[in-house]
Formats: sequence, structure tokens, C-alpha cells
Amino acid sequence: MKGIILAAGSGSRLYPASLPISKILLPVYDKPMIYYPITTLLLAGIKDILIITSPYDLDNFKRLLGDGTQLGVKFSYAIQEVPRGIADSFIIAKNYIGQDSVALILGDNIFHGFGFSSMLKEVAKRKKGATVFGYQVQDPDRFGVVEFDKNNNAISIEEKPKNPKSNYAITGLYFYDNKVVEYAKTLKPSFRGELEITDLNKIYLKKNDLSVEILGRGFAWLDTGTFESLLQAANFVQSMEVNTGMKIAAIEEVSYRMGNIASWELVQLAQKYKQNGYGKYLEKVAGNL
Ligand code: G1P
Repeated sequence: MKGIILAAGSGSRLYPASLPISKILLPVYDKPMIYYPITTLLLAGIKDILIITSPYDLDNFKRLLGDGTQLGVKFSYAIQEVPRGIADSFIIAKNYIGQDSVALILGDNIFHGFGFSSMLKEVAKRKKGATVFGYQVQDPDRFGVVEFDKNNNAISIEEKPKNPKSNYAITGLYFYDNKVVEYAKTLKPSFRGELEITDLNKIYLKKNDLSVEILGRGFAWLDTGTFESLLQAANFVQSMEVNTGMKIAAIEEVSYRMGNIASWELVQLAQKYKQNGYGKYLEKVAGNL
């Protein structure tokens, strides 16, 4: 299975903070935002990841992440010239995806919760159809919204509805079989000029090929779209990390725990950050302290 991180948006709601640099590279407490979606894909067992950026930000992403060898994975890069929507990712990534299935995550989506990695591994095994994740929110009209029948089967999906039929938002993490490439080509731009991911999900729903996994109470799906929510996300990460002594989304640690790198490689990676707590933490995980 291939992975895609869409990190191409302008992030204009965070201007001037995100004017000189992609929002997805801004820190969420102690690490760049993109570490969080990378972690989600790594936990799903994905080792081949395409990062879609704007032309301006490409070099910054490359400087941070390189080709992924250091983490025992492969990072490739592609450019979205103009924001043409989330589903445009599958048109851009057509050759990269080839005959594989694919998981897409939005660069600003942060997930954290108990049992998430086993859920991801299960979902990644599915051979057919699409899987999306529903999460209860107070303001569903800001998102794609899924409606369920009495038996918890998804029966409708709407993009930013004025009158939401449920409180369940569809998060920015999507798993698809290879048909997604073909379906994406049939989409027409919406009134906001974008190829909507919701329209793609509707195709799967109509064919009875869409599963919706619910991320329950106690699970955190964090928004980073505004100054307030970005700070709240950072505070959440900080308080979890301080309380437990464990880091959320340290990609070096996750790569080690997933078996993608050995402990000596983790120690080597830690050297870069040895003057601060991040490096010391990695050394501790590697059993070196
Ligand atoms: C996008 C999707 C929406 C989804 C949301 C999750 O919204 O269109 O369906 O619920 O991401 O973050 P946008 O970021 O385009 O407003």
C-alpha cells in the first residue's frame, strides 16, 4: 500500500505565521506538523509515502525529510501547482500509485488515541473498497458529514452541509483500493472550484463499498486551522508528553518501534538533537541512556 500526504494548501487562515513557510511545517509543540500525519501512515505499516506540496515549499519539505532512508522508508515528492482539491491528489499521484491501494492523509490532521495503530493495521489489510473515519464534533457544518441508519450503516455523506444530518465529521484520513484513480478522473470541480474528496467517497458509498470506522470518545482528532486550534493542539501534545514521559509522533521513535530502523540507527538520528530533550528522549527509547 502507498501513502500520500497532501501538504499543498496555502494555509491563509494562519497568515502571517504561514506566509513564509507551509503551515504543515509549523511546529505543533516540539515537532513540525507533518510529523503527525507521517506517524499515522507509519503506524498503518506504510513505508512508501508521497508528499504533495506547493512549488514554493518543496525544498523545505525535502530539507526536513529527505528521501526517507534515515527512517527506513521512502519519501517521494510531487507538486500541486494550484489548490485543485483533495481528490486531485489521485490524479497527480496516478503513476506513483500504479496498481497499489493507497491511504491519503491531510497534512494538518493530527490523530491520537488508544488502539489507533491496531485499527490502522486492520484497515490497511482490506483489499476492496474505501474506509473513512467518523468523529463526533460540535461544528459538523465545517466538514464532510456522514449520516448513519439505525444499524450504523453510512447512508449519506455531504460536504459542509448547512443542516448537518449528524454530528459525525469525516476526518482527513482515507484508505482506498486502486479504483480510486479511475473514479477521481470522473470528478467535476465543485462550486469552490475543487475536486471534492466527498464526491469521491460518495461514489464508493453508492457502490456499497464504503466503510466508516468510528473514532470514539477519548480519541483526539485535532484541528490546526486557526491560531486558537493550533495552540490548543500544541497544548494537548505538551500536556500528554509531560504527563506520560512519552512523545506523540516522534517519527524516529515510530520508525524504530515499527521495525523500520535498528536501535543504533535511532541513536544516530538522536545525535542531531542531542542538545535538547527530543534527542535525549530518542536515546532513551533506543536504550542508550
Ligand atoms: C476537508 C474535506 C472534508 C473533511 C475535512 C477534514 O475539508 O473536504 O470533507 O471533513 O477536510 O479535515 P477542507 O479542509 O477542504 O475544508
